[in-house]
Amino acid sequence: MKRIGMGIVGAGFVGPHHVDAVRRLGFVDVIAVAGTSETSAKAKAEALGARKAYGGFEALLDDPDVEVVHNATPNYLHYPVLAAAIAKGKHVISDKPLAMTAAEAKKLLDQATLSGIVHAVTFNYRGNPMVQQARHAVARGDIGRPHFLHGYYLQDWLIKDTDYSWRLDPEKGGPSSAIGDIGSHWCDLVQHITGLRIIQVLADLTTVIPTRKKPKGSRDAFVASDAGSDFDLVDMRIDDLASVLVRFENGAKGVFSAGQVCAGHKNDLALEICGPLGSIRWHQEHQNELWIGRRDGPNQILQKDPSLMDSEPREYAHLPGGHQEAWADAFCNVMRDIYGFIAAGKSSTDPHPPAFATFEDGYRVNCIVEAILDSARNGGRWTEVNYLNH
Ligand SMILES: NC(=O)c1ccc[n+]([C@@H]2O[C@H](COP(=O)([O-])OP(=O)(O)OC[C@H]3O[C@@H](n4cnc5c(N)ncnc54)[C@H](O)[C@@H]3O)[C@@H](O)[C@H]2O)c1
Repeated sequence: MKRIGMGIVGAGFVGPHHVDAVRRLGFVDVIAVAGTSETSAKAKAEALGARKAYGGFEALLDDPDVEVVHNATPNYLHYPVLAAAIAKGKHVISDKPLAMTAAEAKKLLDQATLSGIVHAVTFNYRGNPMVQQARHAVARGDIGRPHFLHGYYLQDWLIKDTDYSWRLDPEKGGPSSAIGDIGSHWCDLVQHITGLRIIQVLADLTTVIPTRKKPKGSRDAFVASDAGSDFDLVDMRIDDLASVLVRFENGAKGVFSAGQVCAGHKNDLALEICGPLGSIRWHQEHQNELWIGRRDGPNQILQKDPSLMDSEPREYAHLPGGHQEAWADAFCNVMRDIYGFIAAGKSSTDPHPPAFATFEDGYRVNCIVEAILDSARNGGRWTEVNYLNH
């Protein structure tokens, strides 16, 4: 198989997981890391076993050995890095959210489509075997036409006023924290599993921690909080908790909450789909199980056992039953779908394997986030998701 060279811009929390995932594919070479300076890039390249280090993303984009550019920088750098990478003819894999606004996301989608490169967004929960099993079961009609879709994505890493991240700065993270950062995953996942598009939203956004102690130095995401005495007091202008009513194109109703201030919830993403014949629930923190609810029979827990799964989703499970697969394995499944597509020489207009979300999917989620923000700004009013005019 032809080897493919990749380079990554931004190696904080999630960047190293991109590197780990592509390495496991066996045919991808980790060529380069770009960081904020030569020194930090060198340290990160050494830690990750990358061949080269660049103190700025422009130099990485000029490297002819880098065919695929991964972008794992804070959100405000998604647009400039991706636009420059596409202009150089590189395939691009962006972490979510694709962009700060729907307008930026649309520009990236248009540019990527015109240039013919492969474009992807890492909505990584698509890569979980039991997510694919749920998707398969819904498509086959196991629960009938979905009428209620609900769930949440809750975390606690921003619960203290000493917790701070660039995600809370609208200039760096965009106009939303809870919805933009993790609600975006929930919106992609519910649409991915059901194939139904969210068309209207009604949102209530809250800032639970109104003032935070921002440490003077910088640090990567999810690092334990200790602002010490060297901090600035910063007023928060952004949501850290949100609840949203949603309507789907088939008339189904839904509701979800997203919050980063919910004690005990570490990475607690849950999604349940109810139809006339049954319900299906997937829970990230118990990701090797699928709960199946029935009215006229006993409820079931389907375990991630390849011998019990359907043949299509089975491809996403790589270990026998009882051998737990987890977050990083799902991330690897996403990369397997994307790089398999690139290796096969496919064009971005060809059908994509399921765990592979494109810039179009990323753009749609940016549109939903924007509608949620509009709804909240207008005092919680039903708001159409505008997929057309950006
Ligand atoms: N898919 C997921 O589940 C998931 C999980 C976490 C983060 N993310 C996304 O990944 C992105 C990064 O998040 P993170 O949690 O890793 O943040 P982070 O702050 O831990 O890491 C960001 C890294 O980018 C580097 N960086 C900043 N400016 C740069 C520049 N100009 N050039 C090169 N590098 C630069 C920083 O030094 C840091 O190492 C965000 O868009 C976030 O939404 C996705």
